[in-house]
Amino acid sequence: MEQKWWHNKTAYQIYPKSFYDSNGDGIGDIKGILEKLDYLKELGIDILWISPVYLSPCADQGYDIADYYQIDPQFGTMEDMDTLLAEAKKRDMHVLMDLVVNHCSDEHEWFKKACEDPDGEYGKFFYMEKAKDGKLPCNWRSYFGGPVWEQVPGTDYYYLHVFHKKQPDFNWENPKLRESIYRMINWWLEKGLAGFRIDAIINIKKPLPFRDYPANREDGLCDMGQVLADARGIGEFLGEMRDRTFKLHDAFTVGEVFNEKEEELPDFIGENGYFSSMFDFRQTVEGKSPLGWYDCRKPEPEDYKRCCFESQRRSEGVGYLANIIENHDEPRGVSHYLPDGARNERGKKLLAVMYFMLKGIPFIYQGQELGMENTVFKSIDEVDDVGSKDEYRRCLEVGYSEEEALKIINHYSRDNARTPFQWNGEDNAGFTKGRPWLAVNPDYPDINAEEQMGRKDSVYAIYRALISLRRNPVYENTVVYGKTEPVLSGEKDIMAYVRRGEDQDILVVGNFDGRDREISLETIEGCKGKVTLLINNCEDFTMDNQRLILNPYQAVVIAYDRF
Ligand code: GLC
Ligand code: CA
Repeated sequence: MEQKWWHNKTAYQIYPKSFYDSNGDGIGDIKGILEKLDYLKELGIDILWISPVYLSPCADQGYDIADYYQIDPQFGTMEDMDTLLAEAKKRDMHVLMDLVVNHCSDEHEWFKKACEDPDGEYGKFFYMEKAKDGKLPCNWRSYFGGPVWEQVPGTDYYYLHVFHKKQPDFNWENPKLRESIYRMINWWLEKGLAGFRIDAIINIKKPLPFRDYPANREDGLCDMGQVLADARGIGEFLGEMRDRTFKLHDAFTVGEVFNEKEEELPDFIGENGYFSSMFDFRQTVEGKSPLGWYDCRKPEPEDYKRCCFESQRRSEGVGYLANIIENHDEPRGVSHYLPDGARNERGKKLLAVMYFMLKGIPFIYQGQELGMENTVFKSIDEVDDVGSKDEYRRCLEVGYSEEEALKIINHYSRDNARTPFQWNGEDNAGFTKGRPWLAVNPDYPDINAEEQMGRKDSVYAIYRALISLRRNPVYENTVVYGKTEPVLSGEKDIMAYVRRGEDQDILVVGNFDGRDREISLETIEGCKGKVTLLINNCEDFTMDNQRLILNPYQAVVIAYDRF
């Protein structure tokens, strides 16, 4: 496979609103990112993905864009953005922005013009349809609840929004719309962006003409997942976008892609794929339910392991997936994937080692490197996110008590990941001098960057070690390009795999069991030669001959050099 500039990199997602507030208004901002660039550099980060900072009324935290060419004043100015690009460059870091082009905001100029004249030029930038015999054009359910159709005020037209009603969907079938989007993408790339994380992109191709699908809830509506499974031809749009924009700039792009069909993977991330990479959501979607959060199931270690290995298998020889344990749309990874007994520093390091050593591009979500956990919402009023509020309503609707519903929201809410970054043990975790827009997780005196950076055995320290291993010239080739081979698959709650290098094997073993486990390495092929212990989340390490004894939640990375 041809080597690319981004293959050996480590990426980091910044959720600007919650990262660092430079001016005391309680909202994180671009100047705040600037102040913390050295923190990220020291951690070893090469690529930064910055969640949206474009002009936005913030109905969905910036994923509703009113002007793609402007920075929202709450985050700063275009000058701040330019400074950020320049300062990142000085530090040899690459910046990605979020590309949100399935929809914009209902406050975008194009949409305002579309509403004034639904039959006119801008009306065709969106999906504007009339109701037929008093019935909406189709029965699809928006991701945030309710029908995808909303009336254009003062007309008999309805516009389509698969997310919030303040997020009208663009009509990608219209070449003029596509041109306008490509122009905007190139404008940013010419400014010096390294690329984009591409939001909700799988939604741009709708199965047309609009028609009803079998309802999957009492509301008579149908889940978008079901609808999109029926759409064909997204490749024409994505291929065109690649050729007209990303390819011209050798940009790095990572797609937010759910539900692609296995045979489509090469089209998405293979040689000349639509994107450089896309997120591996196998684990993320495990246990999820189209009925709502109340019906979700937390994955067990065996599920986690199976999902990871499935993704490694399907991407091998095809391309690079982007590996994550969390992002701004998910609960904290350590709260979601770890079994009860493992929700401590050792367990957090175990999870870190297991996902980070997989083949692919590791993404770290802000605070993950500290092992930040889910927070506690004592009332639904403490929750900000539109999606979580709808899920709460849904829990009540299907008969849960308020208390039970809140418990469910506490586990799955996206706001768990959106609480302010915990910099230190001072007021508001050092995030702001003012009042934070979303309450700080009360565990900050115990979990914060300052404390962890000063301690050799912290979660932060293991992330730093993992990142530096990725660029250690002795191991880099195996860590970046080595094939992943699952081993010891019969050992329940043990996750183990070998990364096969040219003249080296790297064995990664983790124990998700709350008991000591003794493991025989005899059946593992290769793994001979000079042994080096690269990473260990415990103080002790017991291995003799082919026998390895693991403490509860221990994880080790061992290199075998053949000559
Ligand atoms: C993506 C974003 C999410 C947002 C949605 C709509 O899934 O990650 O935060 O709500 O798209 O833009
Ligand atoms: Ca601010």
